[in-house]
Amino acid sequence: MGQETLRVLISEDALQARVRELGRKIREDYGEDASITCVGVLKGSFVFMADLVRAIGGNVRCEFLGVSSYHGGTRSTGVVKITHDLQKPIEGQHCLLIEDIVDTGLTMDYLLKMLKVREPESLKVVTLLDKPTNREVGVEVQYVGFTIPDEFVVGYGLDLGELYRNLPYIAVYTP
Ligand code: IMP
Repeated sequence: MGQETLRVLISEDALQARVRELGRKIREDYGEDASITCVGVLKGSFVFMADLVRAIGGNVRCEFLGVSSYHGGTRSTGVVKITHDLQKPIEGQHCLLIEDIVDTGLTMDYLLKMLKVREPESLKVVTLLDKPTNREVGVEVQYVGFTIPDEFVVGYGLDLGELYRNLPYIAVYTP
């Protein structure tokens, strides 16, 4: 009790450099003139998305999906609840789904199926963090910021019980 520790895993500088790199690569892949509909998965991706859309530059639309899958604990329940849907149709658009972290893959799998039926012109995924150890379902992720070990991390949008989202770095949380 009261012994929890935070250990920096990815520094603020490393995050910023990688996000700039991802943004440049994404813009290059889509093309200078392409209009990209960025769909941020709330709440975890909001900090990453804010930096990433500026790094992508050019024509970008921002949409959000509210998802709740954790219910305050540190293990995935596999139950995905949509708490906020897109405000506009994505039919015929280049859609880029922005996640904070892919762990079991259950959330991403659910969201991809849900978005595909809306018939976007293309659908790609960028995740800041990938924790492949616990993968329960294979998901195709086109852009990964960092691959990390199986540890519970917080910061830069990621939370534990709604805390730590405002840390400018990614830290391993030890209870
Ligand atoms: P998945 O469905 O198991 O892939 O989990 C995806 C969601 O679980 C993410 O969008 C996060 O909200 C949450 N999550 C998974 N691992 C972590 C972690 O280490 N820290 C904070 N949230 C996590």
